Amino acid sequence: MRFPALVVCVMVAGAGIGCGWLDDRPAPVTPANYTAGAQSQNSTTFTSARPSFGAAVNDFFWVKKEAIQPIEFPHVTHIKNGITCTEYCHESVTKGPEAGLPSINTCLICHAAIATEAERIKTITAWSEKGLDANWQRVYKFAEPAHVKFNHAPHIRANVECSTCHGDIANQTVAQLNTTLDMGTCVSCHREKQAPNDCLTCHY
Ligand code: HEC
Ligand code: HEC
Ligand code: HEC
Ligand code: HEC
Repeated sequence: MRFPALVVCVMVAGAGIGCGWLDDRPAPVTPANYTAGAQSQNSTTFTSARPSFGAAVNDFFWVKKEAIQPIEFPHVTHIKNGITCTEYCHESVTKGPEAGLPSINTCLICHAAIATEAERIKTITAWSEKGLDANWQRVYKFAEPAHVKFNHAPHIRANVECSTCHGDIANQTVAQLNTTLDMGTCVSCHREKQAPNDCLTCHY
């Protein structure tokens, strides 16, 4: 059981929040074969190893690095135009664990013809011509050492709204971290909805 150990660490750390981040943000654009959001869920060791003490404190309080996106994607503009979250950009959300993040080629399905004179559209068109893709930053992501195996699909099937977990991204430009998806949030809804709640439902 690592949970009590972590709590002690946090109390000792006190004002140490925010001290531990290394700036390891990747460059804004990468070659097109980059797989955004790829993550492995196949480790068998349940270890508490974190790169630094500050990182452990940040994870505990859901303090995440602010995502800096390669271009400012206006969610609100698309939702107002009747495009839904799952139609083009996060379509794997109904099928499996990950929501998925769109490639620039997905944007160009529409933007080869729509708003072609807008600055940001010229930018992504130029990336595509050079074989580059957007390296979108994750906004919601569990720290690797927490060994959480989250799965979107059963939630969507059970009609849990995106906004229940992600807040009002429909009215935002770039997606913000609107909510804290800690273990308490998961477990209390599972209790209420009588969803499975043993440790191995959510951990590997
Ligand atoms: C299903 C069609 C569709 C897809 C896919 C799509 N867009 Fe759009 N996008 C639109 C529409 C419609 C507008 C509104 C255009 C307008 O108001 O003139 C828009 C507007 C925009 C704007 C604002 C342009 C301006 O006037 O400044 C940006 C930036 C943008 N989209 C980026 C993207 C990016 C990046 C992607 C891929 C992640 C994407 N879009 C995917 C349809 C789409
Ligand atoms: C029950 C809560 C919950 C619901 C409902 C939910 N999400 Fe998520 N979402 C999460 C969690 C937790 C993560 C981080 C998962 C991880 O790190 O493994 C996440 C991550 C994401 C990401 C990050 C991108 C990526 O790499 O996968 C996107 C995009 C996303 N969700 C979109 C959606 C959309 C769209 C919907 C609605 C159709 C939705 N989510 C519904 C909890 C939820
Ligand atoms: C608002 C309610 C709600 C929240 C919040 C929520 N869940 Fe769920 N979860 C559900 C429901 C409902 C199901 C579907 C149960 C079913 O299919 O019988 C489910 C199913 C699951 C499943 C599949 C279980 C199985 O074996 O069938 C996993 C894994 C899961 N949730 C993990 C999480 C994690 C991790 C979080 C926190 C990030 C979370 N959930 C937050 C309501 C929620
Ligand atoms: C419904 C989903 C769910 C269930 C059931 C669940 N957990 Fe968790 N647990 C989580 C999530 C999500 C996190 C990560 C929260 C975060 O990032 O703040 C977490 C974090 C933890 C952590 C901290 C890990 C770290 O290093 O950050 C421990 C320890 C833990 N859980 C143990 C357990 C044990 C033991 C059980 C069974 C009694 C259990 N969990 C049941 C979802 C769940």
